[in-house]
Amino acid sequence: MKTRITELLGIKYPIIQGGMAWVADYHLVSAVSEAGGLGVLGAGAAPADWVREQIRKVKENTDKPFGVNIMLLNPAAEEIAKVVVEEGVAMVTTGAGNPERYMKMWKEAGIKVFPVVASIGLAKRMIRSGCDGLIAEGTEAGGHIGDLTTMVLVPQLTSEFDIPVVAAGGIADGRGFAAALMLGAEGVQIGTRFVATYEANVHENYKDAIIKAKDIDSKVTGRSTGHPVRTLRNAQTLKYIKLEQEGTDFEEMERLTEGGLRRAVIEGDVKTGSIMAGQIAGLIKTKMSVEDVIQSILAEAKHTLKESQKYV
Ligand SMILES: Cc1cc2nc3c(=O)[nH]c(=O)nc-3n(C[C@H](O)[C@H](O)[C@H](O)COP(=O)(O)O)c2cc1C
Repeated sequence: MKTRITELLGIKYPIIQGGMAWVADYHLVSAVSEAGGLGVLGAGAAPADWVREQIRKVKENTDKPFGVNIMLLNPAAEEIAKVVVEEGVAMVTTGAGNPERYMKMWKEAGIKVFPVVASIGLAKRMIRSGCDGLIAEGTEAGGHIGDLTTMVLVPQLTSEFDIPVVAAGGIADGRGFAAALMLGAEGVQIGTRFVATYEANVHENYKDAIIKAKDIDSKVTGRSTGHPVRTLRNAQTLKYIKLEQEGTDFEEMERLTEGGLRRAVIEGDVKTGSIMAGQIAGLIKTKMSVEDVIQSILAEAKHTLKESQKYV
């Protein structure tokens, strides 16, 4: 399958694994790249040394291209921006800020840059700063989110700009993948589906929570503070939402969620941890290998696209 995304990134299939803090370490990343997609390390709030070590471990496990997601609010962002150059990473996705100041350095190193965007306005700014493509992330996604759904964001972006767009948020099977192509995207970024894989270095309680989740089990906290995050509901999200409704101050609410993702991913604390996951968790019924996830998505997408011919 060839699109501008596979060409730009030198990958077999236009399936990118979202760079997820705490979740996307070298285990998942090397498995996805090895299976023909693009694995992306989640640098999250990690220090630069950890990122360098993880990059080297990915290289020990695969010779295929992979990426690094850099949260630009990370105090180590500048150092990490240099590490990806020194280590010859193929691609960078960015969030929480404007990567403009690193663009020249990355371009000279041949790194492809894909900022995550949730609106046309942000996309415009990112294109002006010289990015190679966009990750259009809808509000269905797990983790930090914007307002628009994938269904409305992707076609508006692909109509407005000629730059390659990767659809993210709410995609976990071949039908979602085919739909993304129909909307003009040339690839997909998938998070939640990849968390519930054998290869993800994530506590089984977390994976089980995704498998058990139903359609309405994700909740958004932090809308009132301007930092909305989608997680599976548990005792902590309910407490947070109550505090939000009572108008509790931001700092106190932040303390509640501090370290929550680490607690859920590493310790398996699914009661007070942050089980970041998207609305599509309701569709995910079994743990699978990364290879099976990718191959089943491709097979189902092909079937779906062929079936759709009957309407033409
Ligand atoms: C557990 C988890 C952690 C995430 N952490 C990050 C992150 O650190 N940086 C980022 O840009 N996106 C992050 N995301 C978003 C994913 O990269 C991806 O865009 C999103 O999961 C796609 O939507 P889906 O979950 O419906 O597949 C995270 C998502 C999840 C589920």
